[in-house]
Amino acid sequence: MQSDGTLLITGGAGFIGTWLTRALSEKGIRPVIVDNLLPQVHGESPKFSSELTGLADCIQLDVSQPETWVEIGSRYPNVAQIVHLAALTGTGQSMFDIGNYDRVNTGGCAVLAEAVLLKSGGGFQSTRQVVLSSSRAVYGEGAYHCNICNVNEYPNLRTEKDLTAARWNPVCPKCGTALETIPTPEDAPHRPASFYGLTKSVQESYLQMLLRSASVELTTLRFQNVYGPGQSLRNPYTGVIGVFYSRMLQNLPIDIFEDGDVTRDFVYVTDIVDSILRSLEFGKPGVFNVGSGKYTRLMYLAELLRGLLNSSSDISVNGHFRVGDIRHNAADIRAIQSDLGFIPRVSLEEGIKNYVQWAASEEPLTEAETGKALLDFRHRRQ
Ligand SMILES: NC(=O)c1ccc[n+]([C@@H]2O[C@H](COP(=O)([O-])OP(=O)(O)OC[C@H]3O[C@@H](n4cnc5c(N)ncnc54)[C@H](O)[C@@H]3O)[C@@H](O)[C@H]2O)c1
Ligand SMILES: [Zn+2]
Repeated sequence: MQSDGTLLITGGAGFIGTWLTRALSEKGIRPVIVDNLLPQVHGESPKFSSELTGLADCIQLDVSQPETWVEIGSRYPNVAQIVHLAALTGTGQSMFDIGNYDRVNTGGCAVLAEAVLLKSGGGFQSTRQVVLSSSRAVYGEGAYHCNICNVNEYPNLRTEKDLTAARWNPVCPKCGTALETIPTPEDAPHRPASFYGLTKSVQESYLQMLLRSASVELTTLRFQNVYGPGQSLRNPYTGVIGVFYSRMLQNLPIDIFEDGDVTRDFVYVTDIVDSILRSLEFGKPGVFNVGSGKYTRLMYLAELLRGLLNSSSDISVNGHFRVGDIRHNAADIRAIQSDLGFIPRVSLEEGIKNYVQWAASEEPLTEAETGKALLDFRHRRQ
């Protein structure tokens, strides 16, 4: 990897940023981290960990404020590359905490671009690349194929009426037959199902248009569902694995939504880090999906966790659903495979084992917290 200047990681104290910082240190690179240590992620009296302060210069500032960028640009005269991870990340929460998601996610990208364009503080004069952490949330529902019409389809979200009638699978809008899933390619349309997904799509658009005029390369990585040790359990919005894990540990029942066939693409955090390192090495523009490329049934995930935890949680399928949830989405990873040589290496079985080992020393979510994560997102019952 070229290290001809400072590597800046925004949101570097978070889950992915911490793993990235460790991997960089193995390559002899000491990055600068800017992170406001959001209490929702880091607890009420947050501090940078001694591990991170040993591996990086850590600065506690808010990326949505223009002064932050001036401060960094004056402290570091040659910020060559920026990995932009700082964001508010809860899909459910984004549907009511709208102003904050707009300020941090889209506003943060606006002032990042401004800093690069105005060469704020002097340090951004030779910035040559930004790596943006985008999300599969920009697509909303995944891609499908109709075998009768022989076309790819990118269906709209299922309506409340569809879900109430247990029409779980999207159907072909032309012939009405059930569609088959296909991994979602990068050129699929953006149809986000949450405000979070919309902010990620807007982040991409802002940086695409603004960085072009500054001749700065933009590498956009659309992550699928990232998991692994260190994923904040304190944050009840971080996803299904933390919720299932915490409930299983307390032998609480697990309700798998819809008919039990919902799938997601889970990708282990070190594979995500590998995609970022390859992007930094590549140094060129591109838009890439990053995932395992595999569909995992949530039912399988629940059973895997139950086995590992020796839990007596009951796992049931009761036809409950959430309006706004997608049915399936897995990444088409051919582009990142061929352009960056990326291959996901950690299997779900191995990754979940590591997660469970790590989580044993963490405080699980309470029953109320897991319920909050599950119910907040426009929940409806049949
Ligand atoms: N984890 C996933 O499954 C996933 C999937 C797709 C995309 N992503 C994206 O990857 C990035 C990193 O995600 P993560 O899982 O590490 O999340 P995380 O919440 O663990 O890390 C985000 C970090 O950003 C910091 N932050 C939040 N607001 C900030 C602000 N205004 N100024 C400075 N720092 C701020 C937080 O304190 C936190 O340390 C995010 O942009 C997220 O949208 C994550
Ligand atoms: Zn058809």
